Amino acid sequence: MSTVGGVSDPIVVMGICGTYDLDSANGRMLEIILNECEEHMQGKVETVIWDHGANPLPLVGAEGCWDDPNVKGFQEMAVSADAFVLSSPEYHGTMSGVMKNSLDWLYSKHTSGKVFGLICTLGGQSSNNTLNHMRIAARWIHGWVAPEQVAIPNIKEAFNDDGSLVNEEINSRVSSLASSIVENTIKLRR
Ligand SMILES: Cc1cc2nc3c(=O)[nH]c(=O)nc-3n(C[C@H](O)[C@H](O)[C@H](O)COP(=O)(O)O)c2cc1C
Repeated sequence: MSTVGGVSDPIVVMGICGTYDLDSANGRMLEIILNECEEHMQGKVETVIWDHGANPLPLVGAEGCWDDPNVKGFQEMAVSADAFVLSSPEYHGTMSGVMKNSLDWLYSKHTSGKVFGLICTLGGQSSNNTLNHMRIAARWIHGWVAPEQVAIPNIKEAFNDDGSLVNEEINSRVSSLASSIVENTIKLRR
């Protein structure tokens, strides 16, 4: 048994970005929420992010994909994680192809019984489409998806110059999501 409040193995939270470049709104959102997860339980949470820019995943089914070392590395990182944060831009009313392809490389043997937290960014007004679609996909690989979730509309105006979020309400939703991910992972890992 691994305990967190009272010792032992830290919780590992893995960020998966729906944009290739981590120097993007979704890369920044992952940085913010993973920091919040670490701060929520100092020293007891470790975080990792898959970098699609440095280590792109092939499309499922593309020639050579089944032996691609990046796929192996991605799946190994997922196995080592206790929880996931998915952050995707909304593209044409749903998650990006990068996010869908990332989820297509994960099976229940990598993700079953683990907590998922969901974030989505939008160029326009707020919508739950991408969040709902990621919720369905995460459920299909037997994830426990946190009820808290965050949509960030009008993404071009969402950040201050220092990279912090402009909107206090969104900030507090991010904090609630971070604590839900950590607290529910502790409960499920018992
Ligand atoms: C192909 C494409 C489709 C898009 N579709 C939508 C959309 O349906 N709704 C919306 O609000 N924004 C849409 N956008 C804007 C993106 O959501 C926005 O650029 C993104 O959230 C910014 O995040 P990033 O910096 O991580 O790429 C679209 C952008 C692209 C490139």
